[in-house]
Amino acid sequence: KIIILDFGSQYTQLIARRVRELNVYCEIHPFHSVPELDSSVKGVILSGSPYSVRDEEAPVPDLSTIKGKMPLLGVCYGAQFLSQYFGGEVKPSNTREYGRANLAFINKDNDLMTGVPDQSQVWMSHGDTIVNLPDNYSIIASTEDVSVAAYEVKGENTWGLQFHPEVYHSTDGKTILFNFIVSICGCAQDWTPDSFVDSTVASLKEKLGNDKVVLGLSGGVDSTVAGVLLNKAIGENLTCIFVDNGLLRKNEYQNVLDSYKHMGLNVIGVDAKQEFLSELAGVSDPETKRKIIGRVFIEIFDKEAHKIQNVKWLAQGTIYPDVIESVSVNGPSATIKSHHNVGGLPEKMNLKVVEPLNLLFKDEVRRVGKALSISPALLGRHPFPGPGLAIRILGDITEEKINILQEVDHIFIQGLKDNELYDDVWQAGAMLLPVQSVGVMGDERTYERVVALRAVSSTDGMTADWVHLPYEFLAKVSNDIINKVKGVNRVVYDISSKPPATIEWE
Ligand code: XMP
Repeated sequence: KIIILDFGSQYTQLIARRVRELNVYCEIHPFHSVPELDSSVKGVILSGSPYSVRDEEAPVPDLSTIKGKMPLLGVCYGAQFLSQYFGGEVKPSNTREYGRANLAFINKDNDLMTGVPDQSQVWMSHGDTIVNLPDNYSIIASTEDVSVAAYEVKGENTWGLQFHPEVYHSTDGKTILFNFIVSICGCAQDWTPDSFVDSTVASLKEKLGNDKVVLGLSGGVDSTVAGVLLNKAIGENLTCIFVDNGLLRKNEYQNVLDSYKHMGLNVIGVDAKQEFLSELAGVSDPETKRKIIGRVFIEIFDKEAHKIQNVKWLAQGTIYPDVIESVSVNGPSATIKSHHNVGGLPEKMNLKVVEPLNLLFKDEVRRVGKALSISPALLGRHPFPGPGLAIRILGDITEEKINILQEVDHIFIQGLKDNELYDDVWQAGAMLLPVQSVGVMGDERTYERVVALRAVSSTDGMTADWVHLPYEFLAKVSNDIINKVKGVNRVVYDISSKPPATIEWE
C-alpha cells in the first residue's frame, strides 16, 4: 500500500482516489502521525497544503523513518518542504503560478517522467517557488516560468513535483503517478472491487464468528452495500432494521423493503410514522427537527434491536471520507447543519461497532455494490437526507404537508426518470414553502402553496451547482404538479449554487 501524509490540501483526497484508480490501496494520515511502516508500505506521498513552508506555524513532518529509506514523492507543499528543510530555498513567486502551464524541459531518462510527452500540460497552484535546491537534488522538469517544476534526489528514491499530478488538468499526471506507484514503488495493482469483497467477507467471518449483528438500513447505497456484504459473511446472524419515519418519498418504504427481501436480507420493517409525527408536531426550527428525528430514531432502533437475543455488534455503513482525520487549518469548522442523524447510536446501545465500508470512497462503494450484483437502480439512487422530507417542508410538519410534498416529489422524480435526466443529476427533490400565493384555476381564485424544485450536480455534496434542466421539461413538470396536486398553485425552480446556498433548504 501507499501512505499519503496530509498537510491539509483540498486535493489530498483526490491523490488517494488517483492511487486507487490504479487499483492500489492507499491510506491518508495526518502529517503529524506517521503510521507504522511495515513491509506492506511500498511508498509515501506528501500532499499539498494551504500553508507556505515559510510560515512560522507551517507543518513539519518527521520523515526520519521515510526519506532515503523508501520511495517518497512530495507534491506542491510536499516538494517545497523536502527542498527547503534539507538546505534548499523557497521564496514567494514573482510571476503568477496558478493554473495551466506546459513542461518546456523534461528529463525523459528519469524513471518518474517515463512516457510524459514534450509540452505536457500541468496544473500549478502555489504562491511560492523553489529558487535553490539542496546539492544532491537535480531538476527533471521545468516550465517556462518555473524552473523547478520537478526534481529528483540523487542516490535516493525521492522526488518532488511542484505541480499537481492528481488533478484532471495535469494531462499526464496519471502516467507520473503510475510511474511512481507501480514502477518505482512496485505496488501490485490488485485492489479491485472483487478482491475487496473476498478479503472483507473473509475478515468479517473471522471477526464476527458466530456473533449476532444488527444493522440499520436506510434505502441508501452505503447501508445497502454494508448489509449485502455482511449477509454474505454471516448470513442469518445479521438482522437489518428499516424504520419508516413517515418522512420518506412516496411508496418508498414498501418498495425498498420489498427489494431488500428480494436480495435475501433478513429485514425487520418498523412503522414508526406516528411516533415521529407526534414528536415533531408544532416544531419549525430546522436544527430542532433534525435533533428530534435523530433521537426518536435511536430510541426506536434501540428498542427493536433489544428484541433480538444476544446481539453483540452494531454494523454501520460509514465510509472513508467520514473517518479520515482531517488536518484542520482554520480550527474546527462551524456547524452549518448537523448531518449526523444517528451519531450517539453506538454509545447508547453499548455494542461493539463494525464498519465494513470504512476504507472506501463513495464511488468505490458503488463499484463494490456492482460486484455484489446489487441492482443498478438501487446503486444509482440519488442521495436522500436522513431527516427526509422534514427538512424539505419549511416550517412545522403535518401529515397533510407530507402528502402534498410526496406527490410533488414523485411527479418531479418520475419525470426525470421518464425523460432520461435522472442519471445526469446528482440529487433532486422538491421543497414545500411556507408561502401561499394567489392563482386562478378555471374561473376560481385560488390561494395555495408554492413548491420549489431543486436539481444539482455535484461529486460529494460539498459543493454543487444547479442543473440547467430543459425548459420544456420544467414546463411539463410544473404543469403536471399544479394540475395534479391539490393545494399547490405555483412552482419555482431553485437556481442557487452551493456555496453560498446549500442543497437542502433547511
Ligand atoms: P446541504 O444541504 O448541507 O446537503 O448542502 C449536502 C448533502 O447532505 C444531505 N443532507 C443530509 N444527510 N442527514 C443526512 O443524512 C442530514 O441531516 C442531512 N442534511 C443534508 C443533503 O441531502 C445533500 O446530499
